[in-house]
Amino acid sequence: MVLKTNITEMLGIKHPIISAPMGPFYTKELTVAVSEAGGLGVLSHTNLFGKNSLAEMKSDMEYVVEHTDKPFGFNIRTSRLQLDAPGLCRGISRFIMDNPKIKEQCVYAVTSAGSPKTLPKAKTYQRLKESGSNIKHFHVAPALWLADKCVTSGVDGMVVTGWEGGGHQSYEKISTLVLLQQVTKKYSETPIIACGGFSTGEGLASALAMGAGAIAMGSRFIASKESEFHDKYKNIVPSGKADDTLWVTGVLGPIRLWKNNYSSHHGVVTSKEEKMAMEAQITPQIAMEDQKHYEMTYAGNIEDGAVLLGQSIGVINSIESVKNIVDDIIKIAEKRLKEANNYIL
Ligand SMILES: Cc1cc2nc3c(=O)[nH]c(=O)nc-3n(C[C@H](O)[C@H](O)[C@H](O)COP(=O)(O)O)c2cc1C
Repeated sequence: MVLKTNITEMLGIKHPIISAPMGPFYTKELTVAVSEAGGLGVLSHTNLFGKNSLAEMKSDMEYVVEHTDKPFGFNIRTSRLQLDAPGLCRGISRFIMDNPKIKEQCVYAVTSAGSPKTLPKAKTYQRLKESGSNIKHFHVAPALWLADKCVTSGVDGMVVTGWEGGGHQSYEKISTLVLLQQVTKKYSETPIIACGGFSTGEGLASALAMGAGAIAMGSRFIASKESEFHDKYKNIVPSGKADDTLWVTGVLGPIRLWKNNYSSHHGVVTSKEEKMAMEAQITPQIAMEDQKHYEMTYAGNIEDGAVLLGQSIGVINSIESVKNIVDDIIKIAEKRLKEANNYIL
């Protein structure tokens, strides 16, 4: 039995499960594992320790196609403070076009945290599309007004991410449950990936029942044997409770972090207006200073570093192989969907 949806068909994958991008951390091993398990692995936008994000993305893509023949994707954060984003959009499109195996396997580009137009307006991306690539462009929509912007910009699909998710968030604090209903009702023809709070078959079944074609998961995949996250980071997840995270001010927008020294002193967002005024003051220099807290986390300092996690840690009880995670979610989702089907007389 397989769950066939508009997203599995569009991206040529077996299961409607996608790994959510988790920059600035590295996720190439995770990408390979998720794609090999039948989902879609997604490379993150990484630039830790002052590394060049384009060079990192190129070498990650080379690594992925050396280790799997399955489809995969990548993320670019297009925030105004992400100064490397326009160059990354141009450079990676050219790189994909010039590498036949990567061009064949790279089916998904997800942009986030900024404009949905940055990637499609890159001439090299347009040439990549014209050259016969099957790549699809999705953008993250964490609020209905952002979904409106995505659709106006002509995206191929949207990642609808609610407030309970780990990492980057909108200012509106809308749960995945409500946001997904808002977006699927308004844009029933647009392919949608549901994100934020998913970690189980029950979650996948409910997302599909609400009109999404797949789920994307971050926190669940952190707690996998294959993810590159530090063991101390991974170990937070199984013992974590749903209310062990905080919604605080971040450099690229509000973020959900695990409660520790860093998040407790980082400032809770009081209003969208106040947060946006604060963000207007953030310079690229301040953003680079903040990056150090991600480097600390990467090195295992989970008390003082930025530990991004979602409320779904309250549902996750174990660190598993990616294959077990994916197979278990599919098995339970099928069961739940069949049971729900029996309600219909
Ligand atoms: C460690 C971490 C890093 C993240 N970095 C990014 C990022 O670089 N780009 C992005 O679009 N979203 C990022 N996010 C958000 C995820 O893509 C996704 O929306 C979130 O993990 C979903 O919630 P979940 O953790 O409950 O699955 C990050 C999330 C985490 C946990």
